[in-house]
Amino acid sequence: MQGMLQSGVPILHDHPSHDILLDTAIAAGKEAGALLRTYASSGFRIEYKNPINLVTDADRAAEQCVIDHIRARFPTHRFLAEERGRIEEVPSPYLWVIDPLDGTTNFAHSYPTYCVSIGLEYEGRCILGVIVDPSRDELFTAIEHRGAQLNGHPIHVSKTATLNSSLLVTGFAYDIRDTPRNNLDHFAKFAMKAQGLRRTGSAALDLCYVAAGRFDGFWEVQLNPWDMAAGSVIVKEAGGQLTDFSGKDLSIYGQELVASNGQIHEAMLQVLQQDAPRT
Ligand code: IPD
Ligand code: CA
Ligand code: CA
Repeated sequence: MQGMLQSGVPILHDHPSHDILLDTAIAAGKEAGALLRTYASSGFRIEYKNPINLVTDADRAAEQCVIDHIRARFPTHRFLAEERGRIEEVPSPYLWVIDPLDGTTNFAHSYPTYCVSIGLEYEGRCILGVIVDPSRDELFTAIEHRGAQLNGHPIHVSKTATLNSSLLVTGFAYDIRDTPRNNLDHFAKFAMKAQGLRRTGSAALDLCYVAAGRFDGFWEVQLNPWDMAAGSVIVKEAGGQLTDFSGKDLSIYGQELVASNGQIHEAMLQVLQQDAPRT
């Protein structure tokens, strides 16, 4: 594929191997994870996007760190990052989808459940995911068709066969106070059907934990592409299933997500399809 600089000079795009892409994402994620730990111990500034939606200078610094790192290696690639939005200087089949700090509310309260999430789309298809949990030194990785790993060891979804014996997880969007589509109805229904229900505050780690068999299923109603890009590859490569609430294949641009070990997927969809409130 070929792009064009403003000067009219054509740019030739290379097609780096998956290993080089993965190594670059891991190095970027680890560097940003170390930066988050430094901010966590030395202090950070909080700004409010709305009364319950925070952003810190650590979010911005981690995002800059990831982008700088990847850009130094792949100057023609595009980016979609939570705090800066889209960066598309030249056309490229590669789009890095980045959440520099997933779990900002946890981070701001010194609750150690947050991560750096780096996904990569090639021609619109998610092909790689890297998620770094700096508090536990856990590195989740996946490349399409090559399986998913935790710290270099293969991981697989659980074998739990019923909702009744499942540990599920969910999350709530920042407009929970403003919309009837706030997931509280689904939360109440699953609380009566599952063995247990958790809310960790990091959608990207929730996906990793489904992939590792720690949770059997995860759903959420209003996610962003950067919450899902990396984790969706990791779940898929760990043998899991990902759809929207109607059972269609997941789109990271579609907000609704159901991720499971596959065995309880249909049962989760049935609960989510009961009496959906109107938007
Ligand atoms: C949030 C977390 C949370 C989820 C929210 C997300 P952020 O991302 O992933 O678990 O419930 O929907 O917005 O703001 O911490 O990057
Ligand atoms: Ca997020
Ligand atoms: Ca974030």
